[in-house]
Amino acid sequence: MAFGTAILVFFAAVVTTSAIVDGFVPPSRIQSIDPTKVAQTPPFDRPGLHKVADRAYEAYYVARVFSFTPAEIRIPVGSRVTFYVTSADVEHGFSIPETGVNTMVTPGWVSSVSHTFNRRGTFLLVCNEYCGASHHNMAAKVTVE
Ligand code: CUA
Repeated sequence: MAFGTAILVFFAAVVTTSAIVDGFVPPSRIQSIDPTKVAQTPPFDRPGLHKVADRAYEAYYVARVFSFTPAEIRIPVGSRVTFYVTSADVEHGFSIPETGVNTMVTPGWVSSVSHTFNRRGTFLLVCNEYCGASHHNMAAKVTVE
């Protein structure tokens, strides 16, 4: 009994310590941000697509009920895009089906995910985390041309 209790205390200590050290933050959430000041915090004060090199882009997105800003980006085929996404209100999802792009968007955090678009077409970017009445309408477009 004493041994069992000791083990439980030990595991509780390990979990508590790792929670404090890691902050329960998944690796895709790279940076914190004040969710009430997203519109005033660079670079999210000017969301959109930024070219960083030939066929290399950074795209800054703000998610809020029930839309993404920017609503559409256009990139040349073969481009690698690193998405940085934050929420101005509640928890959202950020997913481009048919690609590996899929992350949660938590208020207070910036999520990041990268993808190389090697096929032309218009990709739908959807919120895949229930966020309210019009969750199913929350979407944007990535056009590869
Ligand atoms: Cu945003 Cu569902």
